[in-house]
Amino acid sequence: MTAFDNIRPADDAALEEAARILRAGGLVAFPTETVYGLGADATDDRAVAAIFEAKGRPRFNPLIVHLPEAAAAEGLAVLDDRARALAQGFWPGPLTMVLPRAASCPVSLLASAGLDSLALRVPGHPLAEALLRRTGRPLAAPSANRAGALSPTSAGHVAASLGDRVPLILDGGPCPLGLESTVVDLTGRRPVLLRPGAVTREALEAALGPVAGPGSNEAIKSPGQLSSHYAPGLPLRLDATGAGPREALLAFGPKVPEGAAVTLNLSPSGDLTEAAAKLFAQLHALDRPGLEAIAVMPVPETGLGAAINDRLRRAAAPRG
Ligand code: TXA
Ligand code: MG
Repeated sequence: MTAFDNIRPADDAALEEAARILRAGGLVAFPTETVYGLGADATDDRAVAAIFEAKGRPRFNPLIVHLPEAAAAEGLAVLDDRARALAQGFWPGPLTMVLPRAASCPVSLLASAGLDSLALRVPGHPLAEALLRRTGRPLAAPSANRAGALSPTSAGHVAASLGDRVPLILDGGPCPLGLESTVVDLTGRRPVLLRPGAVTREALEAALGPVAGPGSNEAIKSPGQLSSHYAPGLPLRLDATGAGPREALLAFGPKVPEGAAVTLNLSPSGDLTEAAAKLFAQLHALDRPGLEAIAVMPVPETGLGAAINDRLRRAAAPRG
């Protein structure tokens, strides 16, 4: 008897089972050349919410979306000449590009934490590629560890950190690089290195010209770095117990007050995973011209509620 029976060698049968779980909205941990990722179908809001739940993250950080090949980026994000040059030079490999989301991007808004950008990467590990091809969906995948823990570079690390929070861990041996991917933001005029990694700044500059470092003016302007990086146009009124006729109501739970101009419910049954899955899409939908505010009912601070409330508080914070 082993302590964890959710680790399986990544043979053909295990890959098939992994693809089945992912297509059904479940989570699978898988090896990449950098670290193990905790993957979910990036187009499925609830599956993406389950990632945050399993990691126990206190806030919704945007996630990297993994693709089997560069061509799969079309339709998800807007690639300019710089992005194409980096894709050509560094994919598959340990480079993540932050790009503007395409107009009809099917990736969950929760995966971009409500931003209008998307982080994309084509991993250079044969098992990751095989899994992506079999699943036929883009996979959102942060490092496969509980929040605050070290990134896992073996299947055993994943099991030690996540235990039975993930139904299947594909064992592909140790990760060859063992360090997270380089993250470069191409949403602005000047490229910004958001996270150093195996693809060096020098290598990026050889392809792009000057690249601003983390902490530069450009980096501070980059949306992923701002404390209130998604704020609706309407002000938010938190802890609302009712709403007026000029307000939109973001409800939670079974007891919803009447009187709002328009109401959407994060989860009529009070399920926090469902609420996280719907949060960004409902905020966008309620952010309508002609109304005065979005009134938000209280959400419990337990489990994923902490991350939901963190985002609501930041969206409600005074704009500067
Ligand atoms: O090597 C890796 O990148 C691993 C493997 C699994 O691919 N993944 C990984 O994911 O390290 P994670 O979630 O631990 O780190 C993602 C990084 C974070 O620093 C996040 O802020 C940044 O990428 N990021 C993701 N989307 C972004 C966006 N739209 N704008 C700015 N930064 C973004
Ligand atoms: Mg991480």
